[in-house]
Amino acid sequence: MITKIEKLDNFGRGISYINDKICFIENALPNEEVEIEITKEKKKFIEANTINILESSINRIKPLCPYSNECGGCNISHISYEKENEFKYNKVKDLVNKIINKNIIIKDIIFDKEYDYRNKIVLHGNSKIIGQYKKLTNDIVNIDKCLLVNDKINEIINLLKNNNIEEVTIKTSNDTKQVLVDIKGEINNKDLLLSKVNVLIINNKIYSKDKSIINEIGNKKYYVSKDSFFQVNRFVTKKLYDEVLDIVKEIKPSKVLDLYCGTGTIGIYVSEYCNEIIGIDYNKSNIEDANKNKELNSCNNINFICNKVENKIDEFKDIDLIIVDPPRSGLDAHTREILKEMKSKTIIYVSCDPVTLTRDLKELNDTYNINYIKPFNMFPRTYHCESITILERR
Ligand SMILES: C[S@@+](CC[C@H](N)C(=O)[O-])C[C@H]1O[C@@H](n2cnc3c(N)ncnc32)[C@H](O)[C@@H]1O
Repeated sequence: MITKIEKLDNFGRGISYINDKICFIENALPNEEVEIEITKEKKKFIEANTINILESSINRIKPLCPYSNECGGCNISHISYEKENEFKYNKVKDLVNKIINKNIIIKDIIFDKEYDYRNKIVLHGNSKIIGQYKKLTNDIVNIDKCLLVNDKINEIINLLKNNNIEEVTIKTSNDTKQVLVDIKGEINNKDLLLSKVNVLIINNKIYSKDKSIINEIGNKKYYVSKDSFFQVNRFVTKKLYDEVLDIVKEIKPSKVLDLYCGTGTIGIYVSEYCNEIIGIDYNKSNIEDANKNKELNSCNNINFICNKVENKIDEFKDIDLIIVDPPRSGLDAHTREILKEMKSKTIIYVSCDPVTLTRDLKELNDTYNINYIKPFNMFPRTYHCESITILERR
């Protein structure tokens, strides 16, 4: 079947209409004419793969990655980087304009390198290969190199070949000088690996002297352990945190809540410009690292709570600034309600999913003005988009 693509959906798939049904097509770009193979047909929609491109878009590029057809790691590596940034900007703008009926300012998207940006990878394997999962399956694509991660990680991937690895997480510091490797499985070159990395954990046993690596952002240092969260883009994270810092410097808040604080990174980054900060995260490893990070940065005005935000948020009053950085699911209904009641002067909403961001903004919009949204391309070559929204009490 042949069809013409009208636009992209939020996942970077081409959209066309077949027999009045919306059709989502992998690897197809606006204005292209493509031959498709239908993979799923439901009452209201069709899903399909592109099998032949009859008329190609000027924005199409040949993906640099040899695994791009099968690997589920990237989904939009066939679009030029310029168009990818435009796609993400428009995705945020269109979602927000559709759901919130107001002219909200969307600032220019911030981006950096399109490859070599990730400081972390999780790979799966068996006795023969390690690699990423194939798109929408648990089959493994055997990889020698991933273009999204830094060279140090690729070096370690190659040292791990010919082992029996079920799963491995490799993390580096942003300057790539420190490496953490956490393996589930069996390896036959433990000593070699130990000589190349700072932290080696195999089946939960720590073989190295250290159990965390140290990452630097601006003038702050942060411990990151195997189970702790750390932003993956080693270039854009500083730009994101600097945006938060600029706002904090401007408003000079007395009391700050850093919700979904991870290892305390944002709170510590802005700590010199506020009197008191409370960080909340439910992950034990994050909060253990956050407390160490507090010491590491001699930061005496921050305290951390290990709990769910929704369990604790009712306890706070008279907060000048609330920073939220939730997971992709966004804020839960209770947290949204309390944020509305709290009437903090400012909320900085760091989001990694424009869809849940828009849902949350629609509700917060009753109590707060949305000053602007700034998208950040934290995850190049994928459809995911980070952003910062500034809300001010009416
Ligand atoms: C996107 S990360 C942000 C971390 C941090 N702000 C940073 O920049 O590194 C989201 C964090 O939310 C935490 N989290 C997820 N759901 C939570 C909940 N219901 N309550 C508290 N923390 C939660 C996760 O452990 C994770 O650290």
